[in-house]
Amino acid sequence: MINKALLDGFKIKDMNSWENVNADLIITDPPFGIEFSGKNGNYHRNVENVVSGYVEWKVLEYEEKIQQLLGCIKKNLKENGQALIFSGWNNSNIVHNEIMKFNGLILRGKMYWTYNFAPSCIKRPSHNVYEIYWITNGDKWKYNSRCTTHHCQSGEPNLTTLNFKRDYKVNMPKYPTRLPFKLLHCLIEHFSNENDLIFDPLCGSGMVGLVASMLKRRFIIGDLNENGKIVFEHLSNYYLNKNNLIQYQKLMT
Ligand SMILES: C[S@@+](CC[C@H](N)C(=O)[O-])C[C@H]1O[C@@H](n2cnc3c(N)ncnc32)[C@H](O)[C@@H]1O
Repeated sequence: MINKALLDGFKIKDMNSWENVNADLIITDPPFGIEFSGKNGNYHRNVENVVSGYVEWKVLEYEEKIQQLLGCIKKNLKENGQALIFSGWNNSNIVHNEIMKFNGLILRGKMYWTYNFAPSCIKRPSHNVYEIYWITNGDKWKYNSRCTTHHCQSGEPNLTTLNFKRDYKVNMPKYPTRLPFKLLHCLIEHFSNENDLIFDPLCGSGMVGLVASMLKRRFIIGDLNENGKIVFEHLSNYYLNKNNLIQYQKLMT
C-alpha cells in the first residue's frame, strides 16, 4: 500500500501552470520533438505494456516549447536553485541555443549520460548518449562531491560522463523514456541535500519524485499524461517495501 502523500506529490498539470514552487533543484527531461509515441516497434519491449498518452512536442514548435520550459524553470526555482535539463541528440542544439538566449538563467556546463541501449544501435552507429544541461539561477549553487552510487564508489568519479544502464521492469506498465533509478540517485545526491525540494514539471513516470523521496528530499512533480501516475504507483510499489527500504538496499541487508 503506497502512502497517499507520495501519490499526491504527482499532479496532472501543464508545465506552464506552475507558479512559485520555490524548488532547490529541478530535474527534467523534455519530449524529444521527433514524433515519438513511445510505442515505436523498434524498441525491445512488449508494446502492449507501454502506457499511452505521452505528449510529444512538434518539431516546428520545439524552440517555443523550450522557451516555455525555461520560463517554468525560472518561475519555480529558488534564488540559489539549479536545474538539470536532459536532451537527446536530435534537438540538443535547440536546447543549447534557447538556454543561451534566455535571460535570467546561467548555463554552467554539460554532462553526458551514456547508457546501454538505443533503438537503432544494432543497425548503425548510434548515440547512446543524453546531454544534461546544468543551469543555475544565480551565482551560488550546491554541489556534493561524492555520491553513494558506483559513480563515486568504484574507480575515479567523473561527473562529465555518467555511465548508467537503463533498468527495465518486467510485468509492469511501462513509461516511454523512463529515466533509470541509479542515474537519478547519483544526480540528486550530487546536486541537493536532504530535505531540499526537487521539482519535475515533465515527470512522465515520476521517477524524479520517487528517487527524491527515497533519498529524503521533498518533491513535487507533474505531467499532462495521467497514465504516468499509474506507472508511478507501480514503480513506488516496486521500489518501496514495508520497511521503506529501496529494493536493492533490501537485497543487500
Ligand atoms: C521524456 S518524457 C519524461 C520521462 C520521465 N523523465 C520519466 O523518467 O518517466 C516527457 C514528458 O513530458 C510530458 N509533457 C509534454 N508536454 C507537457 C506539458 N506542457 N506539461 C506537462 N507535461 C508535458 C509528456 O507527456 C512526457 O511524459
